Amino acid sequence: MSRQLIAGNWKMNGTRQNAQGLAQALVARLPADAADVVVCPPFTLLPLLADSLAGTALALGAQDCHKAPSGAYTGDISATMLGEFGVSYVILGHSERRQGHGELDDTVREKAIAATKAGLTPIVCIGETEDQRESGDYTDVLGWQIKGSLPDNFAGVLAYEPIWAIGTGLAATTEQIAQTMLFLREELVRQFGEAGKAIKILYGGSVNADNAAAILGIPEVGGALVGGASLDADAFLSIVSAAS
Ligand code: G3P
Repeated sequence: MSRQLIAGNWKMNGTRQNAQGLAQALVARLPADAADVVVCPPFTLLPLLADSLAGTALALGAQDCHKAPSGAYTGDISATMLGEFGVSYVILGHSERRQGHGELDDTVREKAIAATKAGLTPIVCIGETEDQRESGDYTDVLGWQIKGSLPDNFAGVLAYEPIWAIGTGLAATTEQIAQTMLFLREELVRQFGEAGKAIKILYGGSVNADNAAAILGIPEVGGALVGGASLDADAFLSIVSAAS
């Protein structure tokens, strides 16, 4: 099995001052045999972090990109532009963008294509709402999100983030994660054939220092997408240490 990936999604958090300190703490204390680790700060901190992380084992990611390489898209940032700052991963289709910015599967898929063309690894997020989980429809929802959001020949990472577990402090149970991961793997193989076996699947939603080992030990979990706990060096490093 390939190395697990621990991705820190800083969301809309971080100033030049505290970002520098956090990045330096992570670099200084990153375990030598660490899993692959990436931090995804807001766009404004990318230049600063590109300098601090250059030549280190800590990769740099972004939280979104546009589907076009350049053009009349006020306020947007292209994958090509991100590449100029040493960005190697980009989170796409996070539920906060799907809900807050009306992003649909088609847009997410086009962004994933653009990211791959620019040499970035897309981390495409999917996940069901609490209602969808409770009604039992969530497997259909996840299946459709995979079909709509992942391009053919997808060369990226899938992140399963149940919306009800994000920022609530209530992660999905290990049983729920295990069962959903098996479903996702089957679905990836059904949609992508043999290539579907190699797509890494992350879990995200209230991962913390206490539950990381149990979550990362679940079969088919290829790593974690961490929100709140990625803003604290001790917590994030504990999660990294729990990965393999
Ligand atoms: O992308 C990570 C995220 O949505 C999970 O956030 O704060 O529940 O770890 P959090």
